[in-house]
Amino acid sequence: MKKLLGLLVIVLIGIQFIPVERTNPTVTWDINAPENVASILRTSCYDCHSNETEWPWYSYIAPVSFMVAGDVEDGRKRLNFSEWDKYDGSKRQKLLEEIVEEVEKEEMPLTMYTFTHPNAKLDPYRINLIKDWVKPGSSYEKSPRYK
Ligand code: HEC
Repeated sequence: MKKLLGLLVIVLIGIQFIPVERTNPTVTWDINAPENVASILRTSCYDCHSNETEWPWYSYIAPVSFMVAGDVEDGRKRLNFSEWDKYDGSKRQKLLEEIVEEVEKEEMPLTMYTFTHPNAKLDPYRINLIKDWVKPGSSYEKSPRYK
């Protein structure tokens, strides 16, 4: 038993030396949204879907760091608000529709995330603000904005 615990401690210390990428590439573009929507996206989505991730202290401790970095990498790959200029018109439209779908089904933000970031949890009021913004015919331009 003691041997096993010793081994576990050694493994836990060992994995701390595995490098984890916690990058925040430069933001030159951002999605254009009215202030109230932008602020919701910032609070609830930007840690995984932008280049402005706030890396919490536990993102420096393995094995949690692997999970956090993995979510950010995966999240940015699918949708990155900081690189909105890189998507063409139809991709933007598709992503906007997916955003509505994900927040309506309460699949985003991830439950694991709202557990540690309770104020990122969306309520019906905030979900509606996102929907009104995405709605076809909404007057708001959803183009990229130079920062
Ligand atoms: C803790 C990190 C995290 C947060 C916070 C987060 N997401 Fe995600 N998101 C992911 C990951 C990881 C994926 C890819 C895997 C998946 O779909 O579960 C993803 C996928 C998506 C997708 C693409 C789905 C697809 O079919 O490809 C959309 C759209 C999305 N998120 C929207 C949002 C919105 C909107 C918010 C804020 C309200 C948000 N996410 C908050 C991590 C996050």
